[in-house]
Amino acid sequence: MSIIFSGVQPSGTITLGNYLGAMRNFTNYQNEHECYFCIVNQHAITVFQEPNQLRENIRNLAALYLAIGLDPDKVTLFIQSEVPEHVKLGWIMTTLSTIGELERMTQYKDKSQRHGNGDSIPAGLLTYPPLMAADILLYQTDYVPVGDDQKQHIEITRDLAQRFNSRYGEAFKIPAIQTQEVGARIMSLQEPKKKMSKSDDNSLATLYLLDEPEMVLKKIKKAQTDSENKIYYDKELKAGLANLMAIYALITNKSTDEIERQYAGKGYGQFKNDVAEAIIETIRPIQTRYKEFVNSDYLDQVLTAGAAKASQKAAATLNKVEDLMGLSRKF
Ligand code: AQP
Repeated sequence: MSIIFSGVQPSGTITLGNYLGAMRNFTNYQNEHECYFCIVNQHAITVFQEPNQLRENIRNLAALYLAIGLDPDKVTLFIQSEVPEHVKLGWIMTTLSTIGELERMTQYKDKSQRHGNGDSIPAGLLTYPPLMAADILLYQTDYVPVGDDQKQHIEITRDLAQRFNSRYGEAFKIPAIQTQEVGARIMSLQEPKKKMSKSDDNSLATLYLLDEPEMVLKKIKKAQTDSENKIYYDKELKAGLANLMAIYALITNKSTDEIERQYAGKGYGQFKNDVAEAIIETIRPIQTRYKEFVNSDYLDQVLTAGAAKASQKAAATLNKVEDLMGLSRKF
């Protein structure tokens, strides 16, 4: 039985990118593996979050984890800040990291650019990867199912684990990334060379899992394409259409070749309607289940039990790390 860990930030409403790129796959693991799925709220605060909004986002994400089909009898669902071992090991991982390697992270470069200069860039954006390494390494994780944008962070996690093991002794398993071929990165509907993000300022760019059907249709109709009106897959020259094709392919389990054949001689209007319809039908049952869970006491019970279970596993790793480093009084 392999150990699986993944996390999602409650930094906004969950997007179709988060779902198709990562969360949808979580349900595939739960029957055969030991799974830990986390709401990484301490990562979310690396940029300002309005407190009431953050509280709401955490709850919404927890309800969505259940709504997509995760079964708390099979997986451990928890909130990062309720398991203090994460920040404790996160600090240790920060001390093992170098400024140079952290500054080379693409996500840091992208996100820090939005904040101007060093006096306004939050330091947490730079130290995000060592905390993420801690999240993963605490559970002796074998596989991390994430979207393709997180590849670099998994690589640095592996580096930090190896660095620790060779400097102090074996404490960590070296985890591997698990992504998918098509749809590992869903792109913005308005700027298809940029990834779809929860925190995009342009709400037309992002499809949220909780969008109403009319909103889905509106966003897909307004999605950037090109003027050729001919359906074939070309990620470079027809990035907008390729993104819609990737979304459609993932939802319908068709290959892009099949989609090309299906729409031979047909234009973007019909294709966009079909894509919107497919998305609406995919998210409808998730939204129904979400409404059942979001205000329930059951949700709180799941999260409380999840934190206790996660903490037990995490503490075993942290104790070993502290012993090996000489932080504990134990010889
Ligand atoms: N556009 C995407 N396509 C495919 N996968 C994606 N993921 C995120 N965006 C896409 C995957 O979703 C998981 C959770 O992501 P996250 O919340 O930890 O952080 P993120 O990657 O920074 O996601 P966002 O939506 O872009 O959030 P903000 O705007 O707050 O930065 C991860 O597995 C991620 O790969």
